[in-house]
Amino acid sequence: MIVRVLGAAAGGGLPQWNCGCPNCGSARGGDERVAPRTQSSVAVSADGRSWTLLNASPDIRQQIHAFPPLGPGRRLRGSGIRAVVLTDAEIDHSLGLLLMREAKRLVVYTTPAVREALTTGHPLLPTLGAYCEVEWRRIGVEPGREEARLDGLDFPCTAFDVPGDPPSYSRRPPTMGDVVGLELAASGGPGERGTVAGDGDEEGPDGAETLVYVPGTGAIDARLRARIARSRVTLLDGTFWTNEEMSTVGQGGRTAADMHHLPVSGSGGSLERLSALHGVRRIYVHINNTNPVLMEGSSERRAVEEAGFEVAYDGMEIRLGEHVDVTEGRTPRRAAARVGRRAE
Ligand code: MLT
Ligand code: MN
Ligand code: ZN
Repeated sequence: MIVRVLGAAAGGGLPQWNCGCPNCGSARGGDERVAPRTQSSVAVSADGRSWTLLNASPDIRQQIHAFPPLGPGRRLRGSGIRAVVLTDAEIDHSLGLLLMREAKRLVVYTTPAVREALTTGHPLLPTLGAYCEVEWRRIGVEPGREEARLDGLDFPCTAFDVPGDPPSYSRRPPTMGDVVGLELAASGGPGERGTVAGDGDEEGPDGAETLVYVPGTGAIDARLRARIARSRVTLLDGTFWTNEEMSTVGQGGRTAADMHHLPVSGSGGSLERLSALHGVRRIYVHINNTNPVLMEGSSERRAVEEAGFEVAYDGMEIRLGEHVDVTEGRTPRRAAARVGRRAE
């Protein structure tokens, strides 16, 4: 299985258009310690040809351009993208769907809560449906059901509820399925879950290597921690370093807690919660432009690296399970750098 980080930044990207915070200023000025990053999305493939997008970011056009296997290849028209799975209905995770409206047909997996938000709160799905055929597939995480299998993907995948709320545009109260995480298996199929214990050297269901993708979560409870502990790789919410980060750079009064993003640092932060899981590759994604871990060489970045965690960048590629080849991929770092420059 190939997992490719298309965009490692949170909403707004890096640099964000209207932000003059230290990271954005440095990225804008070409400082090599802060590589530009596009907004949150990951592509996954079991065979290197057929790809599933985990979230569709507003930067999707640029992301596809940077990674040819997602484009038409030698076909007159077409794409390597077979399905799109959304983990929530936030603008940074969903707007890219509208930019794919030239497709004949799109297969979109969401929970009922996310579908509702994208139908009434921000009518993205009806809008998209006016341009192309949208085949909606249900992720059955909903009131009374914390976890559900996704059928019809090229790999086994389970979605699970995580603490979160609906996007700001949605006026309704929070409900189960507003925000989910995903557990993907690289080979074999998730059968019944066995007992989960231990720290890091567990295998996934049926011995498969698993990848856990949680770009947004307000907490890491015992169940999520156990899921991460038995994974091979976890792509984890790295939005904020501290709870008050946004206000310290003049981006309003919302805290990380208000936005349901567990900070990386501090007591109870994700770094501390997962520090013992040395057998798991722990990689931060969905990183807000204000987060000092984005600056190579910063004390915060060093703290993360010394604890054995990684900071994702656009074009980062992770392989697990059996080996597969990507036919038309470019060197990840190069492609990311080219795209970053072009965006400015
Ligand atoms: C989030 O991750 O909480 C949202 O994308 C924030 C936003 O862009 O409004
Ligand atoms: Mn976001
Ligand atoms: Zn900024």
